[in-house]
Amino acid sequence: MIGIAKPLVGDKEKELVNEVLNSGMLAQGPKVKALEETFAGVCGTSHAVATNSGTSALHCGLYALGVKCCDEVVTTPFTFVATSNPVIMQQGKVKFCDIEEDYFNLSTDALKEAVTENTKAVIPVDLYGHPSDYDEIRKITDPLGVTLLEDACQAVGSTYKGKVAGSLGDIGAFSFYATKNIITGEGGIMTTSKEEYSDAARMFRHHGQSEKTRYEYHDLGYNYRMMDLQAAIALAQLERLEDFSNKRRANAAKFDEAFKGIDGLVTPPVMQDVVHVYHQYTIRITEQCSIARDDFVAKMRENGVGVGVYYPKPLHLHKFYREMGYKEGDFPVAERVSKECVSLPVHPGLSEEEVQTVIDNVLALAK
Ligand SMILES: Cc1ncc(COP(=O)(O)O)c(C=O)c1O
Repeated sequence: MIGIAKPLVGDKEKELVNEVLNSGMLAQGPKVKALEETFAGVCGTSHAVATNSGTSALHCGLYALGVKCCDEVVTTPFTFVATSNPVIMQQGKVKFCDIEEDYFNLSTDALKEAVTENTKAVIPVDLYGHPSDYDEIRKITDPLGVTLLEDACQAVGSTYKGKVAGSLGDIGAFSFYATKNIITGEGGIMTTSKEEYSDAARMFRHHGQSEKTRYEYHDLGYNYRMMDLQAAIALAQLERLEDFSNKRRANAAKFDEAFKGIDGLVTPPVMQDVVHVYHQYTIRITEQCSIARDDFVAKMRENGVGVGVYYPKPLHLHKFYREMGYKEGDFPVAERVSKECVSLPVHPGLSEEEVQTVIDNVLALAK
């Protein structure tokens, strides 16, 4: 089976993990500090705060932005649930807003309607590794003083108008989960150029203690700390980020070329001034295609190609969110796209033969 993801762990990762194991300092220590400095450098931000997941990085971000009980936060329903759940963890109110079908990100037309003077923050998601349209989003949010928490969990290394993901919102959040573009197994990191935000996040990830005064609890916090063991892996992975992203882009370019002109099969476009990192290469199998999306998925898997459907149902149609009053028809683009999308294996661990196998199978099914 050609997998949808493959963790690539090399000698450097093992060497650095061994260094940590031999150091006697397994939890948060010098490797976490080194990762925070290196990662902030990669993103072009002044600070980075390492956490034990992308979810906790997002939660730290919301806390730092001051989201609390009853605050309204606007985001997309076409994402992983970890984008919106931290809003609820902060006792805030999730207000979903529809997407546009090309880049699968927040529709700025819909956002104009969704953002009001009651909005505390917006969480744009850089879905599949393609940044949202931040200039257009800021035209809506800046005049109202609404802050942006960039969910860059899938987008490490991508750029928008020359700026790197993680620096596009007031705060950025990344995941190093085992299937992401760089991995630590579980892990995450928050980025920002505002010291006030990074100080708040450091406190929040450490039970409300400031790093300067231990055992003084200033506010509710959690144990969201990253271990040096994880940071060691991330440091080695970061050295390979450019190579990984180039391989993903090269595989995507082969798919773009091979799938030109197939009726009803839409390949993912890239916005001008964006560098995509293809966490996923997601096509749409529309009604005009010779095969239905679900049949396509089943046959690809039968043929040994591990395709993924991200996401089969938008968040507002799940029980937990329906109970907040959402229903079918609320976000028609997200609802349609969730029935059309399929992600093909595009990761850097694919051999040339495997890329060709993916192409041959798509061409055989979607004529
Ligand atoms: C868009 C998005 N947001 C948030 C997360 C949460 O990250 P994690 O699984 O590391 O908590 C993920 C990844 O799983 C994600 O893809």
